[in-house]
Amino acid sequence: MITSDILDRFHASPIASVFATAQRLRREGRELFDFSIGEPDFDTPLHIREAGKVAIDQGETRYTPTDGGIDLRESVRRKFLGENGLDYPLAQIVAGMGAKPLLAAAVQAILSPGDEVILSTPCWPSHVGMIELARGHAVKVATGIDTGFKMTAEELARAIGQKTRMVILCSPSNPTGAAYDEAELRALGEVLLAHPQIAILSDDLYEHILFDGKRFHTIAAVEPRLAARTLTVNGLSKAYAMTGWRIGFAGGPPAWVDAIRQIYSHSSGGLCSISQAAAIAALEGPKEFLADRSARYQARRDLALAGLAAAPGLRTGKPEGAFYLMPECAGVIGTRRPNGETIGSSTDFARYLLEDWNVVIVPGPGFECDPYFRLSIATSDATLTRGVQLIGQACAALIEKGRQPWQSPSRISSAA
Ligand SMILES: Cc1ncc(COP(=O)(O)O)c(C=O)c1O
Repeated sequence: MITSDILDRFHASPIASVFATAQRLRREGRELFDFSIGEPDFDTPLHIREAGKVAIDQGETRYTPTDGGIDLRESVRRKFLGENGLDYPLAQIVAGMGAKPLLAAAVQAILSPGDEVILSTPCWPSHVGMIELARGHAVKVATGIDTGFKMTAEELARAIGQKTRMVILCSPSNPTGAAYDEAELRALGEVLLAHPQIAILSDDLYEHILFDGKRFHTIAAVEPRLAARTLTVNGLSKAYAMTGWRIGFAGGPPAWVDAIRQIYSHSSGGLCSISQAAAIAALEGPKEFLADRSARYQARRDLALAGLAAAPGLRTGKPEGAFYLMPECAGVIGTRRPNGETIGSSTDFARYLLEDWNVVIVPGPGFECDPYFRLSIATSDATLTRGVQLIGQACAALIEKGRQPWQSPSRISSAA
């Protein structure tokens, strides 16, 4: 069967494929320490779930407007104003079934074939996928641990060319946890002010997961002169633990928001009516739990960092937010597994961790970087403690092979 040529250069999300392998092994009875998936292990708060139930009982089960009901968009308007200082009229707000399709429509709305989009790497794989689906070209600015995984103003300026049509910012970042402060955003904004043809897509999904007292900043608020070409995207999946409810929203300039509406008018049947009721409860209801959960993620980050510090061959930066760590594993590259295979990349390392140590991580290439891997800390403290310990042992076994007896996988137990 012949499929679209767009698929020739398009790769399915590698996170999904690691997740699928892990699922298969689990079905086969293996107990895994899974750090692959970026999904909160907390429940959706009770008051939000209750609002969904009430919506069902009150018969709110019909089609709703394609871009979200007025009540939801009013709540989003208040959120942007109250939390971010962004004053969008209702007409400049659109809601969608999760931030992901909204981001994809936003990219599609701006790009023509061959247009370039700048983003820093390591990056979220779907940002690249969206650009490719829109027949654009991702221009990747490589960052690393030593620079806090942040793109500098100079690097941004150097990456801008004739065909640049968009810049994607994601802060706090999936997968690195890097979060731009106000001055850093201002410096990036300064560069962008000189290039009026560039649209800015700000992916703020991890706004409420920030550590060490750090405050959240978004580019349209930091540099209001860019607001007329910035789409600010947010959603409820991460901080509100509502991944399955599929609610995302955005505010931005009328032309961009209208274009998304047009795309949605032919590609989506609107949002789930029940989820919208829950989303309103989330946006209008108590917020104390957000700080509590952020503190829990911070404690897990510290737990993971302490464990990884003892892992020979790994180097890990200190995430400022989100729930991921992005260790560099250069120190284990070139070592050999007990089966004789050489660890030549983070993908080999991920396979070794999964097959020999029951630990699931996502290797770097999916995030456009190597040799790095992503570890999601959105998992229980017990899994984190034991899993990170296993990673340390797995690294030690590679590096000190011969000096210590090999521990067979059958002897690895989660109980320890
Ligand atoms: C950076 C980033 N943006 C957007 C999303 C998508 O969120 P949603 O569940 O609202 O589609 C994710 C989910 O992993 C993400 O990590």
